[in-house]
Amino acid sequence: GGPGLGDRHGRTATDLRVSLTDKCNLRCTYCMPEAGLSWLPKPELLTDDEVGRLVAIAVRDLGVTEVRFTGGEPLLRPGLVDIVTAAAQLEPRPEISLTTNGIGLERLAEPLVEAGLDRVNVSLDTLNPDTFIALAKRDRLDQTLHGIKAAAAAGLAPVKLNTVLMRGVNDVEAADLLRYALAHDYQLRFIEQMPLDAGGVWRRENMVTAAEILEALRPEFDLVPDPHHRGSAPAETWLVDGGPAKVGIIGSVTRPFCGDCDRTRLTADGQVRNCLFSRTETDLRDLARSGASDAEIAERWREAMWGKLPGHGIDDPSFLQPARPMSAIGG
Ligand code: GTP
Ligand code: 5AD
Ligand code: SF4
Repeated sequence: GGPGLGDRHGRTATDLRVSLTDKCNLRCTYCMPEAGLSWLPKPELLTDDEVGRLVAIAVRDLGVTEVRFTGGEPLLRPGLVDIVTAAAQLEPRPEISLTTNGIGLERLAEPLVEAGLDRVNVSLDTLNPDTFIALAKRDRLDQTLHGIKAAAAAGLAPVKLNTVLMRGVNDVEAADLLRYALAHDYQLRFIEQMPLDAGGVWRRENMVTAAEILEALRPEFDLVPDPHHRGSAPAETWLVDGGPAKVGIIGSVTRPFCGDCDRTRLTADGQVRNCLFSRTETDLRDLARSGASDAEIAERWREAMWGKLPGHGIDDPSFLQPARPMSAIGG
């Protein structure tokens, strides 16, 4: 019952992204410092049951239709399969997806599908083992590739791949990555790097823009804009070499989709963020732990979303990176 998660700019959030841990087994430079961060203490994390309750409130009372689990690295969450199982039993049944680096999917893809997982997006920035180490500070490219394969074999189609392009690091690989994705029937999306790293290292000049990505691909592929409407999806898509294969470009910075944003986020410690870049958070964890009813929690969530700003403000002279990096917000 009750109205959904509207805001004063006319948008309604129906897509919930839940971070299940701030930990990760990689250290991608655009997300986390090599030394790691001070992890959230366990008592501050939502328990599996608390995650289940908040997801249930979102789906039953607030009109959320899609639930995506993220991190940090969500495969590191011991209760992930149980959390997915609980979400899949909700009525109406939400679409359930996962964004992961793929390490561990080889073992978990099948149990997750049995639990009710519908889709998976895997981060893959390079096919070169040395570049992988330079970028993620760990020698684990093979595990990522095996995880992707296992996801497809378990029936999680279409597997989407996410590539953040960085100048002088992996930008030369754009065409190779697309050829790899086409050969395996994965849907690749190139992503503009956003200012969400922990060290404040993001520089506009170093960001490979959506326009540059297209320029790099055009000589090698025939790209036609996908007639299918983008809607609230972050990726603009192109049909490759006549289709049906597609490539996506997520131009969050130069081609923001904030006006159509349908997202609400929950951090691993139970804070609602109404935007990736929001400067404030709304605590649902302590509210839930203090004995609040589902209706009270739903109302607090609605208030949190009502104040969502119209856009990310990266272009404002006064822009400040959020206090939490991507790994702690939840991609
Ligand atoms: P699909 O429904 O499969 O298309 O998921 P998705 O693309 O929304 O999710 P995913 O977790 O794979 O995120 C892909 C990329 O989209 C991330 O790397 C971010 O760069 C970007 N992204 C995700 N959520 C947001 C958001 O709320 N705002 C902005 N600006 N970018 C986002
Ligand atoms: N800018 C853009 N995308 C990012 N991701 C992580 N950090 C950033 C950033 N600073 C991506 C990851 C993952 C997704 C959840 O977000 O590559 O695919
Ligand atoms: Fe939505 Fe904020 Fe992302 Fe824009 S930056 S798309 S408003 S979450």
